Amino acid sequence: MSPQPEIRENVELEALNTLHVPARARFYVEVRSAGELAQSLGWAATEGLNVLILGGGSNLVFAGDFMGLVVRLAIRGRRWEHIDGHNATLVLGAGENWHEAVLYAARAGYRGIENLALIPGTAGAAPVQNIGAYGVELCDCLESVTALDRTTGELVVLENEQCRFAYRDSVFKQTPDRYVITEIRLGLSRSRPLMLGYRDLQEYLGDTQESSLDPLDVAEAVMAIRRRKLPDPDKVPNAGSFFKNPVVDGATFESLKARFPDIVAYPQEQGVKLAAAWLIDQCGWKGFRNERVGVHNRQALVLINHSCGSGSDILTLAERIRGSVTARFGVSLEMEPGIVGGPG
Ligand code: EPU
Repeated sequence: MSPQPEIRENVELEALNTLHVPARARFYVEVRSAGELAQSLGWAATEGLNVLILGGGSNLVFAGDFMGLVVRLAIRGRRWEHIDGHNATLVLGAGENWHEAVLYAARAGYRGIENLALIPGTAGAAPVQNIGAYGVELCDCLESVTALDRTTGELVVLENEQCRFAYRDSVFKQTPDRYVITEIRLGLSRSRPLMLGYRDLQEYLGDTQESSLDPLDVAEAVMAIRRRKLPDPDKVPNAGSFFKNPVVDGATFESLKARFPDIVAYPQEQGVKLAAAWLIDQCGWKGFRNERVGVHNRQALVLINHSCGSGSDILTLAERIRGSVTARFGVSLEMEPGIVGGPG
């Protein structure tokens, strides 16, 4: 019999969420393998407890304590599979740090995820919200995901199409209680083109020729851009973009454009995506702060816990921002991080 993972009681979660809001887990366990995960989920089921799967804690807001079992995924491991000419598959355990994996791939000369440098969180969390930045989304190179299917207790492999990826969305977000990701597989290549089209990257790289760049150069450029614009969650507690960029239909966009000629927008296959940061900025929120929480002064999409703010301080501010964007533009903003814990 393998030893049971240690289940602890009444554990403080403040250091385990990047907003650093205080919250307690009634029960807490760290799992290092798919077997330990299955054991822990089995125990929670026997005890009739709700389960929260925690990666890096960078995309959630604790509205209060979590009265069930918090399972922190600490499944480690990096390996290469199917190395074939210019192509290879990088396999990552769900608990691997995402940014370290990006650097690991880029240093090995493999392209595909370098634009996703410095995104906080773990490899296992990356498919849940289909992380994206600087013109690249995880779904562009994700081959498959291994997950524990909680309805059957079996490990399953979901191919890219089965993950139902969309902008900041996936089957893992759509059916949140079904799958727990244990491992991801990324299809990388030494020869695919670098993705340098995003405006910030173009501006940063100037007239540097693509042929003189390797994936590590691109990762370093992305890191420099992010450090300039986005707060480091280790120093300034935050959860990245707090709202998704909303997509509106063409007619709504035309009428907004007539009233607000400077509106920042990106045409999509269906509809037009608006820059939520611009909408929030126009409502005067950039740099706003009260005693505890506020809005970043260089990127209006990022909410910050300045000083001992609680999850409800953050959520109250988020509601005020949503309210003013709806009142001014008639556009409803959707939160990106999930809300967990608390009453109800
Ligand atoms: N803008 C403002 N005010 C601001 C910030 C931005 O008006 O305070 C305008 C600028 O005109 C800018 C536009 O909004 O051109 C878009 O800003 P940016 O390029 O910084 O990107 P974003 O749409 O705000 C998205 C992602 C980020 C990702 C960046 C870069 C979402 C919700 N956010 O932000 O992702 O890093 O693009 O690709 O899609 C995250 O998800 O946590 C995250 C940081």
